Amino acid sequence: MLAVELQGIWKRFPGVIANSNINLKVEQGSVHAIVGENGAGKSTLMKILYGMQRADEGTISVNGKIVEFDSPSDSIEVGIGMVHQHFMLADNFTVLENVVLGSEPTKAGSIDFAAAKSRISEISDSYGLEIDADALVGDLGVGDRQRVEILKVLYRGARILILDEPTAVLVPHEVDELFEALRGLKSEGITVIFISHKLDEVLQIADEITVIRRGTTVATLNQKTQTVTAEQLAELMVGSELPTPETRGSTVTEQVVLLVSELTSVNSDGKAEISDLSFKIHAGEILGIAGVEGNGQSELVEAIMGTRAATGSIWINDQDASKLGTRKRRELGVAYIPEDRSRLALLLDAPLWENRILGHQTQAPNAKGIRLTPKLTKMDTKRIIQEFDVRTPGIDVLASALSGGNQQKFIVGREMSGNPILLIASHPTRGVDVGAQAAIWDELRAAREKGLAVLLISADLDELIGMSDSIKVILRGKFVADADPATVTPQQLGNAMTGALKAAN
Ligand SMILES: Nc1ncnc2c1ncn2[C@@H]1O[C@H](COP(=O)(O)OP(=O)(O)OP(=O)(O)O)[C@@H](O)[C@H]1O
Ligand SMILES: [Mg+2]
Repeated sequence: MLAVELQGIWKRFPGVIANSNINLKVEQGSVHAIVGENGAGKSTLMKILYGMQRADEGTISVNGKIVEFDSPSDSIEVGIGMVHQHFMLADNFTVLENVVLGSEPTKAGSIDFAAAKSRISEISDSYGLEIDADALVGDLGVGDRQRVEILKVLYRGARILILDEPTAVLVPHEVDELFEALRGLKSEGITVIFISHKLDEVLQIADEITVIRRGTTVATLNQKTQTVTAEQLAELMVGSELPTPETRGSTVTEQVVLLVSELTSVNSDGKAEISDLSFKIHAGEILGIAGVEGNGQSELVEAIMGTRAATGSIWINDQDASKLGTRKRRELGVAYIPEDRSRLALLLDAPLWENRILGHQTQAPNAKGIRLTPKLTKMDTKRIIQEFDVRTPGIDVLASALSGGNQQKFIVGREMSGNPILLIASHPTRGVDVGAQAAIWDELRAAREKGLAVLLISADLDELIGMSDSIKVILRGKFVADADPATVTPQQLGNAMTGALKAAN
């Protein structure tokens, strides 16, 4: 029995064919993965299946019946649910409140919280989601939040679940928990469609895998009947070999580029977000920070960039930058790849070339003295698109029209421009395909060889170990351990991050 069948789906955008003659069959009660390089058309296809976008041509069948969707409420009605990559939960509400927001069971006009709560525990128990309805969402880790999002969708009656890059933000043990939950869903007959760039994870969880290449479905592989390898998938996707972030000789010099002492920041409740962080990064050195998301990484980065108030001192290339604003810090040669690309690194409603200026308003090629120089900006935007293989019909399209991975490639290209001396990079390859990941690693290595100092935060432990010259483990805003990238394994590092967490609980 097919849960979903897509036939002959086409979707065109100005200058781009996002989907061309897509055919996809998804068995009921299976996990079906969709893989393909950045811009291949995966998210577009899922938005069509969820009713967020309309196909130009083609038919959608759900449980054997042809359906037409004008909006997500139509697809929700036939049992489809989608968990977006950016979580949409309200921090200052409980799980219960978040789940019932918008679909409250009412008893004489008021919300029947007791009924809602018992249904939440019922769903949580039967699928093994391990969610406490009374927990405050703001207190939950990323993995828990994601399972709340899944629960929210199930609460609305979904039997077909779409997950677009759900593991991008998770550390290994959270991925294990998610997969455990997905297996629970599967055993209850729920169908899961799963998009990921992490091929090893896809091989671990998927029953079937469909490869999309340049907008069209090129193959569906069945793991029950055949042996599928990551190399084979990569070959089908991009026709190239699998990259690995290999370690190589040290380029660390004596020159200290970033010197951070006793950096501390406190939130509005007087709770320390980061406390007493001291470290240095030399020219030619990559310092990796390992930690479960939400343990002070964002606060550390923001304090260094001057977007968060902090005490302690920050010296950049022998200059006291502690009191400088963000623009001045950037002018000292600091490049910044923030973790939330759509909120902090892009103006989604502005054309790509204007996004070249963002954060670099006072620097070449965007300005000369106090005058902006749009011609030079546009030329340089074209260069970035070429060098970083950003797939876009041109520099005048809005940033929002780029696929997630192509947005990321553009940001990396912009920040690597103009020979920075220090790069603060949060998840630089998040959401990019294996080919683009290799290209970004090459770029970082080349810059490191020329003396770039890098603070690298990544949930991808292979990347962190492969790229870093040294690694510090952060927990609840404090450094709790050092790891040697030459010898540590991803499992050991994962244990250091989570084992330490458990010990502290
Ligand atoms: N709203 C839009 N307007 C114009 N073009 C769009 C729009 N949405 C997507 N596209 C284009 O359609 C193509 C497919 O994009 P899509 O987001 O589906 O890719 P993807 O496979 O999800 O990639 P990624 O792995 O990077 O997330 C891309 O070339 C993208 O630029
Ligand atoms: Mg996508």
